[in-house]
Amino acid sequence: MAFLEVKDLEAYYGKAQALKSVSFNVEKGGCIGIIGPNGAGKSTLLDSIIGLTDWRGQIIFNGVDLHRLTPRAIVKLGIGYAPERGNLFTYMDVKDNLLVGAYLAREKIDENLGEVFEMLPRLEERQKQQAETLSGGERQMLSLGRAFMTDPKLLLLDEPTLGLAPIVISRIADVLENLKKTGITIVIAEQNVTFTMTHAERLYLLERGQLTMGGTPEELRGEEYISKTYFGV
Ligand SMILES: Nc1ncnc2c1ncn2[C@@H]1O[C@H](COP(=O)(O)OP(=O)(O)OP(=O)(O)O)[C@@H](O)[C@H]1O
Ligand SMILES: [Mg+2]
Repeated sequence: MAFLEVKDLEAYYGKAQALKSVSFNVEKGGCIGIIGPNGAGKSTLLDSIIGLTDWRGQIIFNGVDLHRLTPRAIVKLGIGYAPERGNLFTYMDVKDNLLVGAYLAREKIDENLGEVFEMLPRLEERQKQQAETLSGGERQMLSLGRAFMTDPKLLLLDEPTLGLAPIVISRIADVLENLKKTGITIVIAEQNVTFTMTHAERLYLLERGQLTMGGTPEELRGEEYISKTYFGV
């Protein structure tokens, strides 16, 4: 059985359908990427896994059916989410934002905080700074760090490279590779196809709420449609 199984997933905002018969699996310790244009449904897909949308179909994580579970219960099962734009507590400092992330994994706070500061030393330097005054890249790092504080077995990352300078992206890339070595399973939703191809062993193209293509980076690089749309060749 796969670690995460998504089958015939449909999600709605009111009457508008945002996801249509989305199915894919992720093996334990695997890293997959969901790529696709603005409005394709990438964030909706991650929101659904963490229990924030009204969805139908099946999402099975580590043998547990997630339907109708609350986000809190889902985080507790071991899914960490670094949402787009972070949803940080802007009036709190960096360290308190990280500690909020730990509220369901209290027994490992010190260990996880140590690991976050080791992975992202900038956060340690800035731990007393109010989140509101962080730069875009620092916020992104804090969002990732906070997701890690929930002690996840599966990490959902929404656009981890959005708006970041190349040097920060390469820092995030190092963090991702290190996380992969620890056996964490990762799902990345990204518009940055090059980045996603580097880190994910399998990619899916999401368009207008449907998965229209899937394959290894090698397979997708050979797809004329992907090359034209995303690499302009
Ligand atoms: N809360 C909401 N209420 C109504 N419609 C929504 C809501 N959130 C998203 N949508 C719509 O659902 C569709 C999918 O949006 P989603 O944010 O999942 O796309 P995305 O692939 O993450 O896009 P982006 O790359 O711009 O982040 C879009 O048409 C969007 O307008
Ligand atoms: Mg999005």
